[in-house]
Amino acid sequence: MVKTAVLYASGFTKNTERVAKYIAKNSDGDSYDLKDITEIDLSMYQTVVFGTGIHAGKPYKQVAEFIGKNRGQLNGKDVKLFICCMYNDEKGSRQCSAVSKTLGIPDAVFFNKKEPEMNDKGFPKSVDDFIERL
Ligand SMILES: Cc1cc2nc3c(=O)[nH]c(=O)nc-3n(C[C@H](O)[C@H](O)[C@H](O)COP(=O)(O)O)c2cc1C
Repeated sequence: MVKTAVLYASGFTKNTERVAKYIAKNSDGDSYDLKDITEIDLSMYQTVVFGTGIHAGKPYKQVAEFIGKNRGQLNGKDVKLFICCMYNDEKGSRQCSAVSKTLGIPDAVFFNKKEPEMNDKGFPKSVDDFIERL
């Protein structure tokens, strides 16, 4: 049984998409681009990961809309959020908490390209730590 669904919306840099696909690949999961597909049957997934880039402090609307319409489907599942953003440290942390609250997903992390530790595939080490928790 496939365990993890990674649902994401990405902007023009495709950074979020790249991270979402890496997470799906390394967790035996499936990834879905919420800019292409808005109806997804999540019944076979135990874990649902949302990913979004940030513009002006806000997550992309496709992610907020999907979550708003699918609260029922998400009930009882392990739901997590990652955001791809340019802020780090305290500012990144505050932004992440605010977005997590807005979307109603407490288990949230943020990744940016300036993180000091990168793995050999060019992803922040924190992405691998996140995958470990899935
Ligand atoms: C117009 C614009 C606004 C942005 N606003 C923010 C912001 O408020 N906070 C932040 O941390 N990053 C901000 N960013 C950076 C992006 O969120 C970041 O580069 C992200 O990795 C983009 O991924 P994507 O192309 O997959 O959406 C902004 C980028 C753009 C182009």
